[in-house]
Amino acid sequence: MIVVIGAGGTVGREVVAGLRGRGHAVRAFVRDAGRASFGAGVEVAVGDLSRPETVRAAMAGADAVFVLTVGPDAATQEAVVAEEVRRGGVGRIVKLSSVAADDPALGSYGRAHAEAERAFTRTGAAFTALRAAAFMSNVLQWRASIAAEDTVYQTYGHIPRAVIDPADVAAAAVVCLTAAGHDGQVYRLTGPEALTAPQQATRIATLLGRPLGYVEAPREAAAEAMTAGGLPAGFAAGLLDAQADPDPCRGGLPLPTVRNLTGREPAGFDAWLSRHGHLFTTG
Ligand SMILES: NC(=O)c1ccc[n+]([C@@H]2O[C@H](COP(=O)([O-])OP(=O)(O)OC[C@H]3O[C@@H](n4cnc5c(N)ncnc54)[C@H](OP(=O)(O)O)[C@@H]3O)[C@@H](O)[C@H]2O)c1
Repeated sequence: MIVVIGAGGTVGREVVAGLRGRGHAVRAFVRDAGRASFGAGVEVAVGDLSRPETVRAAMAGADAVFVLTVGPDAATQEAVVAEEVRRGGVGRIVKLSSVAADDPALGSYGRAHAEAERAFTRTGAAFTALRAAAFMSNVLQWRASIAAEDTVYQTYGHIPRAVIDPADVAAAAVVCLTAAGHDGQVYRLTGPEALTAPQQATRIATLLGRPLGYVEAPREAAAEAMTAGGLPAGFAAGLLDAQADPDPCRGGLPLPTVRNLTGREPAGFDAWLSRHGHLFTTG
């Protein structure tokens, strides 16, 4: 039995589908059973990472766990998962982390990922960290301003990122969850080409068939928008610190890791757009 935490999200859904596709028994840990639609054969465990007893119940009989967490409580929540992995004697854990966890970890966001990785190494389980570069799906944050004013706003958008298709992150996770040889590994996952935000905006404009403006948004404006959207100021600052990093070694250069793990080339941004571009017109 493989437990998937974060199963209803962008990467988690793909991990569940990938594991089912390979015939593995999967238990999806979700907050809301009503929103869970994983298809036949997927067991659903309803719980919340802020309630350790629900995490413990979800671990019953688990051989392996995939974990991702989001938000300011991520490190605390992953410490709970680590404790239940240890207590339950789970054999293998794969964590979705970030290139921001590379030493020295960047800001509170990178440090939270690094801290969670350390917690998992102490569980006694075989542990693999997947440090992903920026997701291609982040461009969906531009939908509202594209719809309203044909303009993309991005902070630190001039820094090239080897953006990755979340489906490739999931494919790498499925391999690490189901095959031997990945214990103790820290894998850095990227897509096949480095793109700036203006370059991504140009590709979206081509898809939409109309020009889009590009504005490099000041950090202060981005921080204000994030806190207005409900994020604590310190957490927003941590995300921006990670985004500000110009070091190409942290997700700015394409790496062969996805191909090495999965045996196939990672998807390019145009391929991702061809599958998800309709989301810019359907809202
Ligand atoms: N975006 C990037 O560029 C990037 C790059 C590298 C690494 N990462 C990492 O990727 C992870 C995010 O992955 P994602 O994009 O797949 O996330 P996502 O789409 O936002 O999904 C997050 C999932 O976690 C669930 N969740 C949230 N709080 C929970 C709680 N308290 N208890 C149980 N479940 C909870 C959500 O459940 P509901 O469906 O109930 O809301 C949702 O299904 C983060 O760790 C991030 O740091 C992201």
